[in-house]
Amino acid sequence: MEDGEAMELEPSELAEIIEAHGPGASLISVLEAVQSRYRYLPRQALILISQYLGVPLSQAHSVATFYNAFSLRPRGRYTVRVCMGTACHVRGSASVLAEVQHQLGVKPGETTADHQFTLETVNCLGACALGPITVIEDEYYGQMTPSKVEPALRKYCACKRQEAAG
Ligand code: FES
Repeated sequence: MEDGEAMELEPSELAEIIEAHGPGASLISVLEAVQSRYRYLPRQALILISQYLGVPLSQAHSVATFYNAFSLRPRGRYTVRVCMGTACHVRGSASVLAEVQHQLGVKPGETTADHQFTLETVNCLGACALGPITVIEDEYYGQMTPSKVEPALRKYCACKRQEAAG
């Protein structure tokens, strides 16, 4: 797969990932493996997993929707989380979110068309003193302002180009 492209589902690869766990494996561990590979849980995967483990499809679906770690929709390579908790809100996180939306062209819960970024809002990241906070993947950006948004996002696009060249 090229970076930025939607992850193609290879049925044989999917079956390999699922069967590597054995028929007695826990549902969550198999879901985690598939989520890790594709960054989401395609419906086709849920069907195969439920058949292989012998659990109802409705159960696989329930678990997949219950845990935040799982997604039923394709996700971007990087997740951008803008904190909208009270401490960050009073310090201007709404304007940061507006700028992120402007730069990426998506709303919270959506993924960019190139599958590079998924935008989310959160209610507190546990670092209120540094607010307003935005997290891109695992990197914290404290005292965020709208003018810092574009340079922060550009860094991840640059990473993508460097990896492609290397
Ligand atoms: S409210 Fe944003 S980190 Fe706590």
